[in-house]
Amino acid sequence: MGVQISPSILSADFARLAAECERVAGAADWLHVDVMDNHFVPNLTLGLPVVEALLKVSPIPVDCHLMIDDPDRWAPGYAEAGAKSVTFHVEAVADAVRTARAIRAAGARAAFALKPGTPFPPYADLLPEVDMVLVMTVEPGFGGQSFMADQMPKVREVREAVRRHGGEVWIQVDGGVSAATIEQCAEAGADVFVAGSAVYGAESASTAIGELRALAARHAHP
Ligand code: DX5
Ligand code: ZN
Repeated sequence: MGVQISPSILSADFARLAAECERVAGAADWLHVDVMDNHFVPNLTLGLPVVEALLKVSPIPVDCHLMIDDPDRWAPGYAEAGAKSVTFHVEAVADAVRTARAIRAAGARAAFALKPGTPFPPYADLLPEVDMVLVMTVEPGFGGQSFMADQMPKVREVREAVRRHGGEVWIQVDGGVSAATIEQCAEAGADVFVAGSAVYGAESASTAIGELRALAARHAHP
């Protein structure tokens, strides 16, 4: 698939979501939607009704990042609504295999996410059940935080495990990804890049996406 860019609408103007979606649609591969419930993370954003509204207007596939408790119960509904990728956190899920299978059965790509303090090895056995692993490069909850370079060894570890596993599992990074930090993520093995403030804070979102894509593309998978 090569490099993919998934702008996060968390940094967009929530009063103009359809227009903000259009702003990136020509250049981005995905629209990243951060669902937060004020329990799993100390912030509250939006839920299924708003995602359903976005799905009606988005010309590009929607990538739902669920930062919520009990994803076992809620995640499949996002896939049934039409999100093409649904990510749950391993710290919140009770039965990761069952939830990943339910997401896939509903027609979406399934992914699990790791908070910065969560190690990857205990979850390596889940690789056959998912299409993507999200390595958080900030503490989930808010946009505009500083990139955590100390997560790069984890990205390498996941890339190595994916190579051993042999399947096509994408590796996504999310948090503080910008022109200054994207190259180290790509070099470590990431291929899907979430960027909120770096895209929506730019004068031209499509130019920012193009720049990010070009920087990441300099680094083939190790
Ligand atoms: C943080 C969210 C991110 C956030 C990234 O919890 O998961 O998707 O929007 O924003 P930036 O790119 O500004 O760090
Ligand atoms: Zn996110």
